[in-house]
Amino acid sequence: MADDSTNPQRPELKNDRYLRALQKQPVDATPVWMMRQAGRYLPEYKATRAQAGDFMSLCKNAELACEVTLQPLRRFPLDAAILFSDILTIPDAMGLGLYFETGEGPRFRDPITCKADVDKIGIPDPEGELQYVMNAVRTIRRELKGEVPLIGFSGSPWTLATYMVEGGTSKAFTKIKKMAFAEPATLHQLLEKLADSVTSYLNAQIDAGAQSVMIFDTWGGVLSPRDYKDFSLQYMHKIVSGLKREADGRKVPVTLFTKNGGQWLEAIAATGCDAVGLDWTINIEDARKRVGDKVALQGNMDPSMLYASPERIRQEVATILEGYGNGSGHVFNLGHGIHLDVPPDNAGVFVNAVHELSRPYHKQ
Ligand code: CP3
Repeated sequence: MADDSTNPQRPELKNDRYLRALQKQPVDATPVWMMRQAGRYLPEYKATRAQAGDFMSLCKNAELACEVTLQPLRRFPLDAAILFSDILTIPDAMGLGLYFETGEGPRFRDPITCKADVDKIGIPDPEGELQYVMNAVRTIRRELKGEVPLIGFSGSPWTLATYMVEGGTSKAFTKIKKMAFAEPATLHQLLEKLADSVTSYLNAQIDAGAQSVMIFDTWGGVLSPRDYKDFSLQYMHKIVSGLKREADGRKVPVTLFTKNGGQWLEAIAATGCDAVGLDWTINIEDARKRVGDKVALQGNMDPSMLYASPERIRQEVATILEGYGNGSGHVFNLGHGIHLDVPPDNAGVFVNAVHELSRPYHKQ
């Protein structure tokens, strides 16, 4: 499928299904990858993490971050690799002091509480405080040897702000919503700084070798429609407008994923992104009708389906493929990250089912 011969500057890419599908170009089968495909459901990940000592040390060691990025690709015929890192690298580089409490998720030593805290934070230099991320991108890209494309990523400004203001994971989001509704100017100031930081961070990942980028807006779905546009989508739109969209003579597609964002598909598609990520709370058939030819779609199997039998997993894959229907423009994925207690073999059943069952939808 690759037509690398047309551009001598273009490094070879053996499997470009993922990049083609994001641009709605013909493919032989639907590409597939899994959010959080590197992680604790894999015993080899746990071994490398133990070798690194802790999660952030793993992210900061380019060789080990590369190793865990490649682990799922050795097990399954995935069509893309995703940088091993975390969305919270930016707030950490802003000086908030990220740490992980076992079983409790991420935490910040110095959360944002007021305007004075927002005034203090700067825009991190991607080749300064965040150089370890760019080093990981360069190492992974080299070690992938052109097998599959490398996805870079960031959190959305709103999602990053939730962790920075709440001080960690939250259920009710009362602190950030208090700031949003009682002190909106302070929150907008923070979101502006985050949008500028994310733009330069993603552009640096593209310079370092990322061939596509994805923005994770994990918590946009906790906002009302009007507040979603004001506090989340507006800033993702700004980032999309500031991103480099070509590298090495190839398009660099951008995917926006708002968990629970199904009701705002048209608005997300109107930002100028190439693809919209879907969670499992929307039928992909309806989503395709609503966005038409405007963007590609990524998703959207419930990650908990990977607890089911191989037959049930295959049946679900078949249903989603049928829902999307004929032609390119679909990147198969889970609707959110893979759960840490999923049997790895079930992930293999999922990936193989997508390739095998999707071919009839790509006959020209
Ligand atoms: O998809 C991939 O394989 C790439 C790696 C990746 C990680 N985090 C690795 C990770 C990506 C894309 C992320 C993004 C991320 N991080 C998001 C957005 C996507 C989503 O899932 O909604 C969010 C909200 C975070 C913040 C974060 N980091 C959380 C909530 C956790 C889990 C904490 C826990 O203890 O379960 C992390 C840590 C983290 N990031 C792990 C991994 C593999 C687990 C760390 C470990 O090894 O203990």
